[in-house]
Amino acid sequence: MRLNGLMQLITDPRVAAVRLRDGGLVAVPTETVYGLAARADDPHAVARIYAAKGRPADHPLIVHVANALALDEWAAIIPEYAHSLAAEFWPGPMTLVVKRNERAGDYITGGQDSVALRVSSHHLMDETLRALITLTNDPAIGIAAPSANRFGKVSPTSAQHVLDEFTGIINDDDLVLDGGESSVGVESTIIDCTDDIPRLLRAGAITLDDIERVTGLVPGMTSTVRASGTLDSHYAPTAEVVITDAASLAATHPTDEARVGVLALAAVATPEGMVRLSAPMTNDDYAHVLYAALREADALCLTTVLAVLPDETGLGYAVIDRLRRAAHR
Ligand code: TXA
Ligand code: MG
Repeated sequence: MRLNGLMQLITDPRVAAVRLRDGGLVAVPTETVYGLAARADDPHAVARIYAAKGRPADHPLIVHVANALALDEWAAIIPEYAHSLAAEFWPGPMTLVVKRNERAGDYITGGQDSVALRVSSHHLMDETLRALITLTNDPAIGIAAPSANRFGKVSPTSAQHVLDEFTGIINDDDLVLDGGESSVGVESTIIDCTDDIPRLLRAGAITLDDIERVTGLVPGMTSTVRASGTLDSHYAPTAEVVITDAASLAATHPTDEARVGVLALAAVATPEGMVRLSAPMTNDDYAHVLYAALREADALCLTTVLAVLPDETGLGYAVIDRLRRAAHR
């Protein structure tokens, strides 16, 4: 029932699990970003996720499971390299796309013959799943959860971001499980495991080098599988994001009317007349602050965000990917 559309903040994963069992929506913390969750075996609950996000029905959801054993319960075919990746990086910021079995209905996969699976390392996500397993007596039960933002917008990395995103849109009996700030800050690495070699669908904390090291295979960079986070324009604030470099930034003088924000590593100075949104020290820091900084730009009613890209090492590659999509109009 919608009254004033205010989600309730909670901290007890058992309360979250009861709400999920009963078909409600719960925004859940993960180490990457917050997800908007429903039990994955309830088509009505899952339909409410799409409605709340304003997400097209053919964009599939990630199913979060308790551990790698559940992979066998959701997948029809699992290549050996996918087992290696799961053993090495789960729980963690990695999603594997595998050929689905009958557990993964069309209402979750967008009608595709594959399903995306992830084991999060956030202790509250883990405890929520364990409690849901006890309540449903199904060890492979999944929690379907896309990032808890409106379609095409910036992902939330705190409970407050989720409230900002959904107040007025969601029902009063829906919940936000507050797990603090997401430690990684950008969405999981998605790896297509439906072919002979792994293919990178979305960059994240698990890098191409990580995949090659663990599987002994050179990952492919293109895939026939669709992913909405791979649309050209995505992760966008209202302010216009413009990619620049340190030298051009230093030579830029904003006009009087423009309200310009700067996002760059700490080594890059802020030109006079601009608002510094964040000054991360490392590429990992950059990922951690990225989405909060883009939200801050909108909160400050900035017209433009000038972003200086980090190098490609570690999480830098994922930061570059998200900033390029945020800049694409
Ligand atoms: O870090 C994350 O992955 C977060 C947290 C909450 O787990 N989730 C997340 O979900 O980013 P979402 O829905 O915002 O992005 C998931 C991406 C979408 O681009 C979707 O199209 C893709 O995964 N995806 C899901 N199932 C897929 C499938 N079967 N094949 C290909 N892509 C799939
Ligand atoms: Mg998303």
